[in-house]
Amino acid sequence: MKTIIVTGGAGFIGSNFIRYVVSFSPDVRIVNYDKLTYAGNLGNLTGIEEGQRYRFVRGDISDPAAVARVFVEEKPWGVVNFAAESHVDRSILDATPFVDTNVKGTHVLLETARRYPVERFVQISTDEVYGALGADGVFTEESPLRPNSPYAACKAAADLIALAYAKTYELPVVITRSSNNYGPYQFPEKLIPLMIRNALNGKELPVYGEGKQVRDWLYVEDNCRAVELVLHKGRSGEVYNIGGNCEKPNIEVVELICEILAQRLGENRYLKELITFIKDPRGAAHDFRYALDCSKIKGELGWEPRMNFEEGLRRTVEWYLANQVWVESVITGDYRAYYERVYGDRR
Ligand code: NAD
Ligand code: TYD
Repeated sequence: MKTIIVTGGAGFIGSNFIRYVVSFSPDVRIVNYDKLTYAGNLGNLTGIEEGQRYRFVRGDISDPAAVARVFVEEKPWGVVNFAAESHVDRSILDATPFVDTNVKGTHVLLETARRYPVERFVQISTDEVYGALGADGVFTEESPLRPNSPYAACKAAADLIALAYAKTYELPVVITRSSNNYGPYQFPEKLIPLMIRNALNGKELPVYGEGKQVRDWLYVEDNCRAVELVLHKGRSGEVYNIGGNCEKPNIEVVELICEILAQRLGENRYLKELITFIKDPRGAAHDFRYALDCSKIKGELGWEPRMNFEEGLRRTVEWYLANQVWVESVITGDYRAYYERVYGDRR
């Protein structure tokens, strides 16, 4: 049985990835190493039992001694590093934890993997490292890195250190850069779950600026399938873009959420009335558009996204309707204070 250390496995994508691997790869044991920040919740893994195929270890990826201990105990075949501070707005308020986790933490993991060798190290990155596009064009894996927000800059720094470790020490590193994920278990500070929760509670739907920014939406399970393929079949030292082939301006996404929810609740409530355009809290760091050329992963590994956006959004809305207890359980005083800082006085 292969042991894989999954960092950040109590977060949104990491927990979906663990479910995916536990369901589809019976020969893999997962060690979930997670600090349990505000974004990490063991409730995301309900139903996954500790045992031969799964172990949880609470720890910080930027703590060299704690990371070394897990490597010594588990002798992992591979590492998939999802652990990160992941929210652009928070990075604008305070970049410090982003440098600590996304840069230093990734370095600690790479250095540990050099001392206790692994056969595969997947660094989970983002399309945001490429910076912003105008109305046209797409990013390929060769596009220059031009990050704008502190979040994106820290992810880009981690990518460069990882690639340097691949070159210098022949560490078998592979990087994935995906577009915006959506689906079950996403923390309600991100666009889609925040809008669903606010609409359900009759609260205003805060759209930044005019809502014209474009994101490429990827259903989280499509991303998990891509990461698993890259883990086993990607070429060392390479980067793979993973996109949803689904570009949408933010306002269209929010309007579609309102339509799906109104239909689903069977009410005549006009949820779109809740849409409120607010002064953009990101200012010049708000990237206008992201879009990815994914021909590399399609050509080499045969991967393409499968989920249609409207269907994926319907499933996501259904999941949040059925899991309102989960949503309220992850909301803490920290979130309420953060919400007030970003949205409190922005009209
Ligand atoms: P998330 O914020 O939902 O989860 C992050 C997880 O990492 C949490 O469980 C948290 O407790 C853990 N963590 C944070 N700091 C840690 C530390 N120092 N040590 C150990 N664990 C720590 O994030 P997500 O949305 O699931 O994103 C996962 C990864 O995918 C990140 O690397 C992110 O940059 C990348 N990514 C996300 C998206 C997206 O749309 N969500 C898109 C592209 C790339
Ligand atoms: P987000 O989900 O935070 O992802 P990212 O910044 O990584 O793309 O935001 C997606 C888009 O939605 C982004 O253009 C900012 C916008 N947005 C809003 O308009 N209102 C909101 O309340 C949030 C959270 C995001």
